[in-house]
Amino acid sequence: MTKETTSKKLFLSDIIIFGGLGDLSLRKILPAIYYRLQSKQLSNECKVILISRQDINKKEFEDLLSVKLEEIIKDASKKDLSHLISICEYYNADLTQKGCLNNLKSLLRSVDNVVRLFYFSVSSSLFGSITKNLKEAQLITPKSRVVLEKPLGHNGESSKKINNEIADYFNESQIFRIDHYLGKETVQNLMVLRFTNNLYENAWNAQNIDNIQITVSENLGVGNRGGFYDKYGALLDMVQNHLLQLMCLVAIEPPNILDANTVRDEKLKVLKSLRPIDIDLCKTHTVKGQYTRGKLDGKEVKSYLEDIDKFSSDTETFVAIRAYIDNWRWAGVPFYLRTGKRLSRKHSQITINFKNIPHNIFPGGKSIVNNKLIINLQPEESIELVQTVKTPGPGGYRYKPISLVLDYGSSFKERFPEAYERLLIDVIRGNQTLFMRKDEVEASWEWIDSINESWTKSNLKNQLYSSGSNGPGDHILLDNHEWNE
Ligand code: BG6
Repeated sequence: MTKETTSKKLFLSDIIIFGGLGDLSLRKILPAIYYRLQSKQLSNECKVILISRQDINKKEFEDLLSVKLEEIIKDASKKDLSHLISICEYYNADLTQKGCLNNLKSLLRSVDNVVRLFYFSVSSSLFGSITKNLKEAQLITPKSRVVLEKPLGHNGESSKKINNEIADYFNESQIFRIDHYLGKETVQNLMVLRFTNNLYENAWNAQNIDNIQITVSENLGVGNRGGFYDKYGALLDMVQNHLLQLMCLVAIEPPNILDANTVRDEKLKVLKSLRPIDIDLCKTHTVKGQYTRGKLDGKEVKSYLEDIDKFSSDTETFVAIRAYIDNWRWAGVPFYLRTGKRLSRKHSQITINFKNIPHNIFPGGKSIVNNKLIINLQPEESIELVQTVKTPGPGGYRYKPISLVLDYGSSFKERFPEAYERLLIDVIRGNQTLFMRKDEVEASWEWIDSINESWTKSNLKNQLYSSGSNGPGDHILLDNHEWNE
């Protein structure tokens, strides 16, 4: 990997992470800070304060960071890692207790021009109490920003309550509701692809597109997050945020300028146009599933119930939905959303299936495959345009579909920053374009609540699928359509 070469502004911030010793902090947030320090976008003077309930001393804290970060940041330089550890401080707090942040001030800079970034990487049920404690300890400055990890609540009502509690102390321009999918390079490329290439935008509508498929498939199971996951399931963990955000970027109208509120206004319109899924629709338009034992990469893996150590659970680890956006551009075009754990492989992909030609002039020829634009988001990063071409040879016309492939990864030699790196810097510079506004979150909950309530009322059961498969057998959602695999 080559180093980034573009010149950057140097940012100074005090970064305070609630849930500082948690999985997300150690696996994603601290490595993101590491790389931004290394590429000189964050100033060496930054401070990082990790807050947790664990009772550990300074030495244990530093040892833990050093072991974990060395394991996660594969190409870490010893010097840069020890610098990061040297700017990290530990603060022990039980966040449910009033006054728990009263001693935090001594660890922060008092200068007004430093951005205080409060990162809430704990259960959203604690967000209200943390915010009150921050206020009581007089830690909220005009330059403070708060980052809220998802899921924000477990339904529309709880999400509204949390948003309101935070809005008592922070204004909307200080609140950053993070969805790390929006920080992925290939996801941002969706906007560039759509709004710089006239070729696509002219065909981007119900007249030319037959259906759109969005798949986020994972081969991992729930790991050590079983306690959390069993309360949420795939619908809340993945669809409410990541898949809906991907769908928004595919479906929005072109914003007239690239400004946070203009982009978010357009996304909101898409979310508000989603057709609610009532009890009848839920039986034909949704599938939920749960993984059983199976084989992945040649190894036996446990079932979901074994992973969470329970005898029974109704939680879904797979969801597929046929969604419709009831507006002029997308009338009648199904959007198939699909996500699951313990599937055959990790890959995220968007497939735009264009309509087939109206009439085949080649006599006796085999049927023609429709054009497809396949956007591979991860782990491969590429764009494929599937087109039919003539098979060389004399006599008659034979043809077959061939992909024109743009390999995003090998077209750009620089290192692709991880999603959290981009998003952290956006928070510090106050750019909210890639973060969700309150009304957007509310609109997505409204649609998700319609599905959840319909599932409960209709008592829709999970279909079991073997780990390592492609999900429940009959998840093909529309008559004669198939998932692009
Ligand atoms: C998180 C979910 O938001 O996204 C996890 O909570 C999921 O369950 C993860 O595994 C997937 O993210 P990525 O970046 O690995 O696709």
